[in-house]
Amino acid sequence: MCGIVAVIGSREAAPLLLGGLRQLEYRGYDSAGLATLKILGNDQPGLLTCRKAKGKLVNLSSLVEEDGSPGHLGIGHTRWATHGKPEVHNAHPHTDSLSRVAVVQNGIIENYRSLKQELETDGVEFVSDTDTEVIPHLISRELRYLQEEGLSANEATLLKAVQRVIKQLKGAYALAVIWVDTPDAIVVARNQAPLVIGLGEGEFLCASDTPALAGFTKTILPMEDGEVALLTPLGIELYNHQGDRQQRTPSLLTGGEYFADKSNFRHFMLKEIHEQPDIAELWVARHLPAGLPEEAPVALPFDSSFYESIDQIQILACGTSRHAALVGAYLLEQFAGIPTSVFYASEFRYSPPPLAPNTLTIGVTQSGETADTLAALAMETQRRKANQDPAFAPRLLGITNRTESSLARQIPNILDTGAGIEIGVAATKTFLGQLFAFYGLAINFAARRKSRSSQEILSLCNDLRSVPNHLRSLVDTHDELAEELAHIFAETQDVIFLGRGINYPIALEGALKLKEISYIHAEGYPAGELKHGPIALLDQRVPVISIAVPGIVFDKVLSNSQEAKARDAQLIGVTPDLQGDEIFDSLLPIPEVSELISPLLTVVPMQLFSYHIAAHRGLDVDQPRNLAKSVTVE
Ligand code: G6P
Repeated sequence: MCGIVAVIGSREAAPLLLGGLRQLEYRGYDSAGLATLKILGNDQPGLLTCRKAKGKLVNLSSLVEEDGSPGHLGIGHTRWATHGKPEVHNAHPHTDSLSRVAVVQNGIIENYRSLKQELETDGVEFVSDTDTEVIPHLISRELRYLQEEGLSANEATLLKAVQRVIKQLKGAYALAVIWVDTPDAIVVARNQAPLVIGLGEGEFLCASDTPALAGFTKTILPMEDGEVALLTPLGIELYNHQGDRQQRTPSLLTGGEYFADKSNFRHFMLKEIHEQPDIAELWVARHLPAGLPEEAPVALPFDSSFYESIDQIQILACGTSRHAALVGAYLLEQFAGIPTSVFYASEFRYSPPPLAPNTLTIGVTQSGETADTLAALAMETQRRKANQDPAFAPRLLGITNRTESSLARQIPNILDTGAGIEIGVAATKTFLGQLFAFYGLAINFAARRKSRSSQEILSLCNDLRSVPNHLRSLVDTHDELAEELAHIFAETQDVIFLGRGINYPIALEGALKLKEISYIHAEGYPAGELKHGPIALLDQRVPVISIAVPGIVFDKVLSNSQEAKARDAQLIGVTPDLQGDEIFDSLLPIPEVSELISPLLTVVPMQLFSYHIAAHRGLDVDQPRNLAKSVTVE
């Protein structure tokens, strides 16, 4: 997690660092810091200024505005605490004992305990609780050794020191280093954490993610694992893990530039919920133009034979993406007839199922940066490549909203969810985009494998074409409805969400949304499971939100809801108006649509209900406590 930025050029570094960090705040926002180096004169060490503040970036901005941070070179950090509480002393940059070396890091140094012990034995005193602090001390020690070996204090020596230190580090990380003795050089390095260098006019900006480059440059050089780069005003020197110089042509950032803008909405999350009808419309226009599905099936990056060569699918994901994957699995199994399993990526990486032949592995991650998902996919690719039998060869597909992300670089076949940059930490419109991707996939599998008749496929396509209009009226009408209901339940302690079949994952997603932004305890259950435990929690203080859509489990869900009502629970129905009004105490009505497409609609009342509860409680909806949008640590 965390976001790092480094900049070197002819302009003042601090405003550029703050601008970059602002775009990276989605990666963590519990504290922030920067360090700049000012050149004082030939053969003189530079002046190192380090500013840190607890809380949001705005606190650091005020501090820098008041106290200044001079220099044309610097490094910055926005933190999501892993080791050590979010306090100023744990905020980056961290320095060595003499404040001559400063470091920012994103990731986790897994062997920091043993390194720290070793340094403490050498007499080093630590001032933070972080894993990162070992790095400046180690670099400082290597610089001393190198100078004792006769090397002079120049950028080549700094580079060498960093190269030696990263050989001692274990874990996934990206880091940037400055040294007072080289006030015109920055060294950056990455290992399994993203880092991209932007090439401006006589200046370079290196960051964890491309949004930090907005307004700076579109020419980029994404770094590869194990690489180290030396940035000076003269250019970039790139080295691989073995220390061999690398030559790579920079690429052009496509469509990556954006500036966060809330329009007239109070929060990004609300704006993003309201963008969903447009996203649906775009998907329909792009993938379901008029015509028979066999002639114009949803455009996907595979040829026909691919669909016939797959015997089963496994999907790896985390958080909201995993809920989209569960809807996807339902579609792929129940509509397209392919056995499909969904795994938490964090579990899969350490306990994968035995290798099965002819398996498509799908990684779903809106950010394309989630460490567990990327690592699980890498592990799966490796173990499949190690098998000689072609039936076990890796067949991979990535579903992401960020086509320039690490996922897109790791996997050749990518489905773009096309939802546009999402700022709110709680995913909404990107979830919808992921659902659409799975509808597209299921239609393709069903059509190419002939597991469904043309009529059935056509009917699903037509239903999907109706979604944008339904969504438009839903977001319009439900904003007010959900707000009223949210005010009634704003102080509740627990909420139970029930769903079944294709809407069970929506119950999970409803509960996750509420937990994430309102800090109210919530659980999603398959409605049939209520009686096997959760029913013991129910009384008049526990509202139950039940998703009941006409279809194969409709009556079952209504019966399960009755069971909750009989225990005095306040029952809220996400159900078509006519069907539910006798059972439910309140309604968040949805249009009567086929059960198969209903998750595209039932999720909207969930999102709005959570949003309005959190907003009513005066919480920071877009940047909820303890969370981050992109989770780049394990
Ligand atoms: C974090 C975010 C969630 C997100 C999850 C997976 O936990 O707070 O909103 O669902 O990561 O993110 P991904 O980018 O892989 O979809």
